[in-house]
Amino acid sequence: MVHARKAVTPQGILQYSMAPSSSFAGLILAAGKGTRMKSDLPKGLHEVAGVPMVQLVCQAVKGAGVERPIVVVGYRGDLVRETLGSCNDYAEQVEQLGTGHAALMAADLLKGHEGPVLVTPGDTPLLSSTTLRALFETYEREGAKATMATFVTVEPKGYGRIVRDEEGYVAAIVEEKDATSEQRQILEVNPAVYVFDCQTLLEILPTLGNTNAQGEYYLTDAIAEVRRRGGKVVATVFDDPDEFMGVNDRWQLAEAARIMRMRIVREHAMNGVTIVDPTSTYIGFDVEIEADATIQPMTVIEGNTRIARGASIGPNTWIKDSKVGQGCSVFMSHVDQAEMEEGSRCGPFSNLRPGTKLGRKVKVGNFVEIKNSQIGEGTAASHLAYIGDSTVGHDTNIGAGVITCNYDGFDKHRTQIGDHSFVGSNSTIIAPRTIGSGAMVAAGSVVNQDVPEDALAIGRARQENKEGWAAAWRKRH
Ligand code: UD1
Ligand code: CA
Repeated sequence: MVHARKAVTPQGILQYSMAPSSSFAGLILAAGKGTRMKSDLPKGLHEVAGVPMVQLVCQAVKGAGVERPIVVVGYRGDLVRETLGSCNDYAEQVEQLGTGHAALMAADLLKGHEGPVLVTPGDTPLLSSTTLRALFETYEREGAKATMATFVTVEPKGYGRIVRDEEGYVAAIVEEKDATSEQRQILEVNPAVYVFDCQTLLEILPTLGNTNAQGEYYLTDAIAEVRRRGGKVVATVFDDPDEFMGVNDRWQLAEAARIMRMRIVREHAMNGVTIVDPTSTYIGFDVEIEADATIQPMTVIEGNTRIARGASIGPNTWIKDSKVGQGCSVFMSHVDQAEMEEGSRCGPFSNLRPGTKLGRKVKVGNFVEIKNSQIGEGTAASHLAYIGDSTVGHDTNIGAGVITCNYDGFDKHRTQIGDHSFVGSNSTIIAPRTIGSGAMVAAGSVVNQDVPEDALAIGRARQENKEGWAAAWRKRH
């Protein structure tokens, strides 16, 4: 039996499993405001597939074996710290004077560190642990003082260009704003992902100048300086430019999110899930989906959600933090913090709110809202109902338009409905109220007394027929 229940981690497919080693340090530069984002939020906190970009970078760095990355924060640094939590160390860059200056701000935290330090920007959300790990490995294998990644792109705009010498070694990185028109033609660019010998970097950082087009201290200049000092620099050309995509504006954010979404969706497809239209399917990192489930177009599945085999989800569906059992169907519906057991169905236009538990083979139809309620096996609420704070037994029928009045303006009250009972259409049940098993409630009743087992409750005005009255009325008009 194929049993492909698998969550996609942020680094998804490429997650590298490796015991974290204290001999690897990591530095993530995330102090910039991200002016081009035109946002009050620091750039690193903008989300890709529901996770802040800088958090994705932290996870990739940790996955590469760095136990406690150091994050350099600046613009709204408190918010960045609060979001990322205490599993990282932090350095503060009060004024954003450039990437070289940002790295220098971590000097105190790094000064005791012998060995390599990985340096990455906080705005490359698609980075994988595998790539970072490869840079560490090259560093160690080659006895380098610095290793770095490069990639070749037909759209080099905005990236530092890689200038190589006659022997093919990296001589310098030239920022676009400082590049000659000839250098701008270079298609090999700098993703700003480096591994340095930590002590060499710490010697170089205070010596960097800022006589360049932006008046900034560039970390990129450290590479040329390592070479000038006779250190070996190894640049590896990686062939997946997506991974190094730097996000500087909202359009690039949308593009990065699209690529990440495709990675996640593809992983589920490879695990045996039918994804009818990947471009309109949004699945969060922590969602687990078993094989042979089908995800229809225009569907968002978020949070800690589990979808069992054979389930059909969508189209036009939003599910968050929920469990959907084997063979269930969720059709054009909204499901939030709810559980559906095997074979149950909802939709179109059902609203399953927090605390809803549908037993096996429950049927919930259009415009039915359920909140904080347990519904027993085989029970149906097929049309236009509100069931709140209720326990409903098995094989019971809830008619169209049934309302549990659970709120008196101050407190919430529970409704109990037994097994094999029948609540007629448009009945109003004023909680707290119990309707026994096997009982029936006549359509249109206002139920303000408990109903014993197997009884019929009729709580409505008695109908009177006046013979000939309508005809007489018409005659008078
Ligand atoms: C940088 C590189 C460029 C590379 C590109 C890759 C430099 C000088 N340039 O350019 O070669 O192609 O990344 O995406 O390094 N930051 C700080 N403090 C600062 C300035 C920046 O912490 O004073 C942080 C930012 O928050 C960001 C990262 O460093 O996460 C990169 O800064 P950004 O301004 O985006 O640099 P780029 O112009 O993209
Ligand atoms: Ca950038």
